[in-house]
Amino acid sequence: MAPSKLALPASGLVLLLSLLLSVSLASAQTSLCDKYTKALLTDVTPENEYLLLTLLVNRAFGGNFTATAAGINVPGILAPGVVNGEAVNLLPYFNGQLKTTNEDNQPASVNFLDGGGVDALKQNLPAFDRTSNQYFLLTHLYQFFGVLLGCSQQSSTRSGAFPAYRGDVSMYQVHKFMALDNAQVMYFNGMVGTAFASFGGAPEDVAAVVAALNGLFGVACGDFYPIAPYAPPALQSVCTVEGCPLASPPRCDLYADFGAAVNDEGTAPLALAATSPTSCDASGSTPNLCYNAAGSAAICCASQCPATPGDVPTCGLGGVKSAAPCTPSSGFPNQCFNSFGSESICCAGPCPSSPDAVARCA
Ligand SMILES: *[C@@H]1O[C@H](CO)[C@@H](O)[C@H](O)[C@H]1NC(C)=O
Repeated sequence: MAPSKLALPASGLVLLLSLLLSVSLASAQTSLCDKYTKALLTDVTPENEYLLLTLLVNRAFGGNFTATAAGINVPGILAPGVVNGEAVNLLPYFNGQLKTTNEDNQPASVNFLDGGGVDALKQNLPAFDRTSNQYFLLTHLYQFFGVLLGCSQQSSTRSGAFPAYRGDVSMYQVHKFMALDNAQVMYFNGMVGTAFASFGGAPEDVAAVVAALNGLFGVACGDFYPIAPYAPPALQSVCTVEGCPLASPPRCDLYADFGAAVNDEGTAPLALAATSPTSCDASGSTPNLCYNAAGSAAICCASQCPATPGDVPTCGLGGVKSAAPCTPSSGFPNQCFNSFGSESICCAGPCPSSPDAVARCA
């Protein structure tokens, strides 16, 4: 399967999904889940398939905690990153900082790192308990990716060492108050691919998984699709704002909020701060307090704040305070000093023509 065939219109998506979903059925083909369970854990058992998905999802979230077999570094979904020049920081959607979780169709602040956070992930656990939000999020992700990767040993019922998918059937409903943009969704999906590659996933297998995720969740106005073979068809678009690639054919009529999110700032799904910092440690690694456009929420950033803040507070691409020489490959290659030459910042763009007391980017 050539990765170039995976730039998916809807019909291609259905094909690819049915390919990924059906490989566990009796056929000559081995599913990705079975293939990599055998490669990494030898015996294709429910326990080992569940462990494979645990390793994959935990690393995708928390990054690699030790050097990876493939020598690939995995920063993790919880770490800030840059996609196509846009700064991405998904942590506030997981730690309860933003009021963006759909609870009974109302936006709510939910801490999804309440089961021990990364410390639990490090121990190959979904969480340290079985009742936390973190436990439900992570186990549902193991189950979903088990379905996507075609694990032959995953149960089609709620019992067994590797139970069936039992999360929400509509990813649109789950994510709609987050108003996620293309870069954010690409970052999440790309990190799953990077984690897969770090375990030795072949490039065409990694590309197939990322393409399936982008095709199903990374488009706006997608049609009804079942998230698992035994789930009812439901809306799955997670990318829901302007700039998201449109599904082909787009079914924006199915998304009541889509026009609102695109056309009418006032009624766009709002990401309100539940707990927002009011100051940042000036000598710490994230000294810059960056507000959203409404000034109602803020975040502490390593980089300078964006010139035009959005609904959700984000860090800008303006630069990263650094005493060391800036690295050309970092995306912040230009070292800009203050007027005293006593502090500097690494900038994506040029330095100011007349520097002042504080190191800044132009
Ligand atoms: C993550 O993996 C990369 C590549 O193997 C390695 O260089 C890096 O040190 C690892 N990170 C941690 C925290 O072990």
